[in-house]
Amino acid sequence: MPDKRTIVITGVSRGLGRAMALEFAARGHVIAGCGRTAAALVDLRRQVGASGHFNVVDVASDRQVDHWAQKVIDTLGPPDLLLNNAALINRNAPLWQVPAGEFSTLVDVNIKGVANVTTRRLDVLDDAAVEQLVGELPPLSILFNCAGYVHNGTILECAPKDWEFTMNLNVRSMYAVTRAALPRMIAEHQSKGTWSSMTSWRACRSSAPSLP
Ligand SMILES: NC(=O)c1ccc[n+]([C@@H]2O[C@H](COP(=O)([O-])OP(=O)(O)OC[C@H]3O[C@@H](n4cnc5c(N)ncnc54)[C@H](OP(=O)(O)O)[C@@H]3O)[C@@H](O)[C@H]2O)c1
Repeated sequence: MPDKRTIVITGVSRGLGRAMALEFAARGHVIAGCGRTAAALVDLRRQVGASGHFNVVDVASDRQVDHWAQKVIDTLGPPDLLLNNAALINRNAPLWQVPAGEFSTLVDVNIKGVANVTTRRLDVLDDAAVEQLVGELPPLSILFNCAGYVHNGTILECAPKDWEFTMNLNVRSMYAVTRAALPRMIAEHQSKGTWSSMTSWRACRSSAPSLP
């Protein structure tokens, strides 16, 4: 990477995360990192200097991650690169000898932890929440409207409330999200921004099964 970038790395208190933080910092990049061991983060900050921003965060905690993500964005802006590195490994043992609690912790950190760091919750049927999230994010380069619902049955089996829900989620939400995001996409990226919306052939097939 030629320019100075902002790089977020989870699990920087030891191992590969720590090594990446030190190397990226030595190459002039700004690093935001987390881990659960405070003393190790203090030590890393001492080595990296002012370009290191390290916080005690458990990535398995959605609440802690939300708080940290907001702090990183407020301080450094949106990151150029996110490395979901934090992970646990259970004791070396056959699966049937791994206690359920230990396995569950593994899933919390290695799977849910990645989702916590990478995603934000949004009910696309809630116009105010859409406006708020789009306002908090930097101008989008790509908007992919994928949320949708396919009623399982023919038109005759589809009650008006199902129809209304389908239209609200599949059509109105795409309008609402695109309408909220588009002005800043155009301003920032001119003609280079992209948005697309998911459509569904399956929906046509289930409501009109005789279609070829
Ligand atoms: N080492 C290898 O040979 C190897 C091979 C293939 C893939 N990998 C992958 O590379 C990554 C790093 O491996 P590593 O060997 O460097 O692991 P490691 O030495 O065990 O370090 C894991 C890091 O993740 C942090 N972490 C664990 N649970 C966390 C949590 N709940 N919240 C926040 N941070 C947490 C740890 O810090 P705290 O304990 O302070 O929280 C630590 O900084 C992992 O994703 C691993 O699966 C490694």
